[in-house]
Amino acid sequence: MIKVASATSSPTTPHQIAIPLSDSGLLTSEHGITQQLLDLHKADKKPGTAARILVGQNVALVIGVGSIYKPSDFAAAAVRAASDKAPLVLVAKDAQEAKAFAEGSVLGQKTPSQFKKDSASNLEVLIVCPEQVDIALEIKVAETIVAIRELINLPANELWPDKLAQEAKAFAKGLPIEVEIWDEKKLEKERCGGILGVGKGSVRPPRLVKLTYRGGGKHFALVGKGITFDTGGLSLKPAESMVGMKYDMAGAASVLGAVVAAAQLGVKADITGFMCLAENMPSGEATRPGDVLTLRNGKTVEVLNTDAEGRLVLGDGLALASELSPDHIIDIATLTGAATIALGHRYAGLMGSGAAVELAKQAAEKTGELLWHMPMPSELRELLNSELADMTNVKIGNRAGGMLIGGIFLSEFVPKDASWAHLDIASSGNNDFAPYSVYPSGATGVMIRTVIEMTKHS
Ligand code: BES
Ligand code: MN
Ligand code: MN
Repeated sequence: MIKVASATSSPTTPHQIAIPLSDSGLLTSEHGITQQLLDLHKADKKPGTAARILVGQNVALVIGVGSIYKPSDFAAAAVRAASDKAPLVLVAKDAQEAKAFAEGSVLGQKTPSQFKKDSASNLEVLIVCPEQVDIALEIKVAETIVAIRELINLPANELWPDKLAQEAKAFAKGLPIEVEIWDEKKLEKERCGGILGVGKGSVRPPRLVKLTYRGGGKHFALVGKGITFDTGGLSLKPAESMVGMKYDMAGAASVLGAVVAAAQLGVKADITGFMCLAENMPSGEATRPGDVLTLRNGKTVEVLNTDAEGRLVLGDGLALASELSPDHIIDIATLTGAATIALGHRYAGLMGSGAAVELAKQAAEKTGELLWHMPMPSELRELLNSELADMTNVKIGNRAGGMLIGGIFLSEFVPKDASWAHLDIASSGNNDFAPYSVYPSGATGVMIRTVIEMTKHS
C-alpha cells in the first residue's frame, strides 16, 4: 500500500512534483516550466499521460488532464507515473482539493497481488496544502476499496462462498457491523431456492451473508451478486468466455465494501447488506436446463439457461431485502455480457424504479463514476413467460436487450412501487485494459463510492 500524508510546505529534499497540463495549458505555472521544455519532453494533454522534466534537484511529472480537470484522476495518474525512489508531492489549493488528491492517490495505485513478490508499491505521497487538512477518512475509505479490489482479484481456487463469507467477517471486525452467515441448511429453511439451485452443482456450498449497520436515518438495503466462479453450469460457457469469471462476485464484494466504508465514515443511515454467494459449476448434482426453482418470494422460475444464474441468486436477495421494507433497495451485479455490448467497458448500466434511480444518478455525478440510465420496457416481460412456471430466466435465442431483460427479471422480486436501483457492472467491474481515471487494471471497485454517496443523501 502506498503511504499518503499531508503537510503545509514542500520538502527541501529531492522529490517528484506533479503538475497538471490541461488543453488550455499548465494549471500551475510557478515551477519554471516553459513551453519549450514541454515541447522538448513531448508533454501530452491527453488524460493520464505523463512527461518527466528535470527541474533543479527535482523531477516535475507533467500530467495530462484534458479539458476537464478532476483532482482525483490527476492524483491517480501522478501515482502511476511516479518512481517510488523519491516522494511524490501534490500541491493542493485548498482542503477540498487535498482530500480529492488523497482519495485519488490511494485509488490510483496498482492493486497488490499476494501471488507476486514486491507487487505492492511503497511510494510516499505528500499532499501540500496551505491550510491544515485531515485526510485520514479519505485514505481509510480508499484503502477499503483497494482491499475489496484485492478480494475481487482472487482466483477461484482461493475464494469460494464460505471463504468469502469469512472474509466479510474479517472486514467487519472492530466496526459496528453485525455479520450473519447462512449455510445451506439455513438457506433451505429460509426457502432461498435461487441461491441453492445455483450452488447445487458445486462441492463448495452456497452462502448468504447478511450485514447490518445501524447509523440511524433512512434504511438502505444493498444486494450483491456473489458468484465466486461462473462456468455457466450445465449451460457451459465456451473456454474464452469463462476467463474472467472469477470476477463474478464483484457485486457482493462491493456491497461488503460499501457497508464497511459507511461504518468507517459513521454514515447516518441504516444499512442492511445481502451478499448472495454461490459457485456455478456443472456436475451430476447441478441444476439442469428446464428445472424449476422456487425463489424466496414464492415465485417459480423455469431455468432455461443455467448461465443466467446471477438473477436467480439476486431474486432471493432482493426478496429478503424487500421483506424489511427499506426506504431504498440497491443491487450491484456483474449481471449481463450485454451490458458491455450496450455501454462499452467504462459505463455501468442503471435500471430500477422510484427515487433510488435519481439518487444513483446524482451520486455518480458527485463521485465522477460513469453510470448510464437504461430503460426497462415492460413489453419485454412476456419474453419470460413460461408454460410451466411463473417465469423463465431467459428467452432462448433472444439476444436483443439482454441487459434490460436482466433488469426486468429482477423487478419481479421487489415491490412494484419500490425505490430500487439496479447497477449492472458486468461492463466496468473489471478492467482488462490499461489503468484509467482512478481505476487500475483488474477489479475496479466501481460503484462502491457511488453507493456510499447515495447513503449519505437520503
Ligand atoms: N456473469 C455473466 C455475465 C458477464 C459476462 C459478466 C461477461 C462479465 C463479463 C452472467 O452470469 C451470464 O453468464 N450472463 C449471460 C446471460 C444470458 C445467458 C442470458 C450472458 O451475458 O451471456
Ligand atoms: Mn452466467
Ligand atoms: Mn454470472
